[in-house]
Amino acid sequence: MHHRTFGRTGWRVTEIGYGMWGMGAWSGSDDDESVASLERAVDLGCNFFDTAWIYGRGHSEKLLGRLLRARPDSRLYSASKIPPKNLKWPATDEMTLEETYPTDHIREFTEKSLENIGVSTLDLMQFHTWSDTWAGDERWQRAVESLKTEKLVRAVGISVNRWEPVNGLRALRTGLIDAVQVVHNIFDQAPEDELFPACRELGVAVIARVPFDEGTLTGTLTMDSAWPDGDFRNLYFAGDKLRASVEHAERLRPDIPAGMTMPELALRFILANPDVATIIPGMRRRAHVDANIRVSDGKPLDAAVVERLRAHRWDRNPR
Ligand SMILES: NC(=O)c1ccc[n+]([C@@H]2O[C@H](COP(=O)([O-])OP(=O)(O)OC[C@H]3O[C@@H](n4cnc5c(N)ncnc54)[C@H](OP(=O)(O)O)[C@@H]3O)[C@@H](O)[C@H]2O)c1
Repeated sequence: MHHRTFGRTGWRVTEIGYGMWGMGAWSGSDDDESVASLERAVDLGCNFFDTAWIYGRGHSEKLLGRLLRARPDSRLYSASKIPPKNLKWPATDEMTLEETYPTDHIREFTEKSLENIGVSTLDLMQFHTWSDTWAGDERWQRAVESLKTEKLVRAVGISVNRWEPVNGLRALRTGLIDAVQVVHNIFDQAPEDELFPACRELGVAVIARVPFDEGTLTGTLTMDSAWPDGDFRNLYFAGDKLRASVEHAERLRPDIPAGMTMPELALRFILANPDVATIIPGMRRRAHVDANIRVSDGKPLDAAVVERLRAHRWDRNPR
């Protein structure tokens, strides 16, 4: 497992981290299988874990707590997220800070996450949604400063809204944000335009989320893919979106180098970018943990392949 520096925090995190949404909230999750997969990841050296209160309303955080207690001798970095008070994703510019992240809510949910995970200090706490209209508001700024002063958190981040990578740049410039979590993959290359250069300049760590486009870039979706009622993927791939996703994945197939799988290519494309500190593929199954961590072998993707993948950029409208 190779490590990278997590922005100005100086933490040395594994370039393949762990996304814990699925195990907290998706249909078909099995806790024992999830915990075995988490432990397998630690055995293979993985040290960065991303969860959120909303992933099963504390359930995913509690699974992370189980992992930390099972592996007290490993330095594992834990990241969670404060849900917006109005529980609406994504944030819009019309929403006020009072509706989303009032001071007492920031504290209340940090304390909830600490309790669920079973630690007294969390490495990274992130805002789960963001609108840069709030950037200059001193209320969230003072709130996160006190979380740090009181050692409830070591670092603070923003998980920017899907397909809105620049909606956070002003907040980064306050100097109070240590990390940004953004959708970045073979399709979603837009963060490279403005967000990554700003992070480089400011020493803000980049967490690349949704490396497989929620499944499209695993190459396993078909026109007939369907999920049980209540599974978020029915929303993500609603209407025409499933067809468009499958078509984009099919268009990619001829550019997959011989001997490589689509998920491997998806991870190697992101790793080719030194601005990314860690990638957090969502994983519930041990076979996925093994396959994804195996990609962290220090062998760079051929520059000509990276160049060809530029053509697969797919900018989507967030609304
Ligand atoms: N707003 C936000 O802040 C936000 C939004 C979305 C995601 N996230 C974070 O980012 C993480 C990653 O995103 P995601 O989980 O939504 O999507 P993703 O990583 O793009 O895709 C996850 C899917 O890929 C499958 N998979 C993983 N490795 C595979 C492999 N090698 N071969 C085939 N399939 C594979 C997983 O299966 P199994 O689950 O069955 O192993 C799961 O179905 C989340 O877990 C969460 O921590 C944050």
